[in-house]
Amino acid sequence: MSLFAKKSLDQMLAQAEGKGLKRTLGAGNLVALGIGAIIGAGLFVRTAAAAGQAAGPGVTLSFIVAAVGCAFAGLCYAEFAAMIPIAGSAYAYSYTTMGELVAWIIGWALIMEYALGAATVSIAWSEYLNKLFGGAIPYEWSHSPFESFTDSAGVHHSGIMNAPALIILLLLTLLLIKGTQESAIVNMVIVFIKVGIVLLFIALGWQFINPANHEPYLIPEGTAPVVDNAGKVIADYSGWNKHGLGGVLGGAAIVFFAFIGFDAVSTAAQEAKNPKRDMPIGILGSLVVCTILYILFGHVLTGVANWKDFVDPEKGREASVAYAISQYMTGYGWLATAVTVAILAGFSSVILVMLMGQSRIFYTMSNDGLIPKAFGELHPKFKTPYKANWILFVFVGAFAAFVPGHVAGDLTSFGTLFAFVLVSAGVWILRVKEPNIQRPFKTPIYPVVSTLGVVICTAMIIGLDAQTLKVAFAWMAIGLVVYFLYSRKNSKLRNPSEILPHASDFERH
Ligand code: ALA
Repeated sequence: MSLFAKKSLDQMLAQAEGKGLKRTLGAGNLVALGIGAIIGAGLFVRTAAAAGQAAGPGVTLSFIVAAVGCAFAGLCYAEFAAMIPIAGSAYAYSYTTMGELVAWIIGWALIMEYALGAATVSIAWSEYLNKLFGGAIPYEWSHSPFESFTDSAGVHHSGIMNAPALIILLLLTLLLIKGTQESAIVNMVIVFIKVGIVLLFIALGWQFINPANHEPYLIPEGTAPVVDNAGKVIADYSGWNKHGLGGVLGGAAIVFFAFIGFDAVSTAAQEAKNPKRDMPIGILGSLVVCTILYILFGHVLTGVANWKDFVDPEKGREASVAYAISQYMTGYGWLATAVTVAILAGFSSVILVMLMGQSRIFYTMSNDGLIPKAFGELHPKFKTPYKANWILFVFVGAFAAFVPGHVAGDLTSFGTLFAFVLVSAGVWILRVKEPNIQRPFKTPIYPVVSTLGVVICTAMIIGLDAQTLKVAFAWMAIGLVVYFLYSRKNSKLRNPSEILPHASDFERH
């Protein structure tokens, strides 16, 4: 059987048959689901990082670039989600369109999206927890061994491990194993809190915008590197993607993280009342709402505080929003605390969705025989893939505890962008190869949209920094080795005598 052996669409749909999920979600629920998974560390941490490292106040333009790339990819996701409404998202779509090897590559890249995404948000959670405690958690125990800084008193601090990040991951893993019902109502409440806080910050912060902070709008060429108290360079603006318009693209690759999650809507396709109409509304609606909020938020944040503050570890490099409020918005100290508490709650739900998404992808890949059976075993009582959850905890925990947030975040962006490129290309391939399949929703202006999805997302991949790309390619190379040594031999598609278990064994929670 060739490397490009495919599951037929019928096989896929048959696997999903009997899953017994009820079609209860309307367009409004889907938009809320999307926003629930989208707004998180990307907005509250990486906006400042993008402004400080690459785009300056032009981070608003970075949001537009990232949103356009996401919108094109989102339209392609919508076509697949309405046509193949089953769990597994991009991994499942590519199994039918581009074959097992590509599906494996996407599955492997999605580990970067979801697992490292969870690690990134848990690291951000740790930053804001420390802010809430007034910086009481020692630097050593809230940072990875790869981070260090010398404070103004000349004392050098080196990270040992990020303990709070590990603790929040442990708590959420336990919750997931127990199969806590993440009801639509709870999600709605969290969405209201998150959106409310963002709106409040925009509305109250607007009057504190200092126009001088927006001048110049992009980081000028030749900007001197920023060094810490010990003379170590902590931001260098010489690279093509670190200043000017190139910096806007570099910034887009960084804030792209803030949009990750809208694809989570596609995983609920089987529960949409009217997937043909509601999936595109859910995916694109949540994107539009978030994009508008993000642009306004970026405008206010870089107007209230200067982007240079977001590079300085003793100023707004961490917990940037709380910093901007407490430092510059006189009289609104209470808002910094409220924002911090809301952010901690909001981050927890993003981490939960990411861990859940990853365990589902593991589950599907394990059912296909591409990774060991343990990943698909369900807890006898809770009916959750508990072994997958524990393995995931060890993997994600190791990243959260020992790797800097920006490294995990950039790798997350890579994994997601890579999946977006393949999904956009997949629409195009399937239109050519299987023109007659029923498509309840069609990506408009084909092939322009799918091609632009590929182009813009590839441009953002190139905009990531060189170190990230090296690590990401190494990760993908390891994936190929695993595929040829293990997955290919154990693939159920290649050994049809083995019965494909049904996704229906899985309890949705
Ligand atoms: N978009 C999600 C966040 O920003 C992953 O936290």
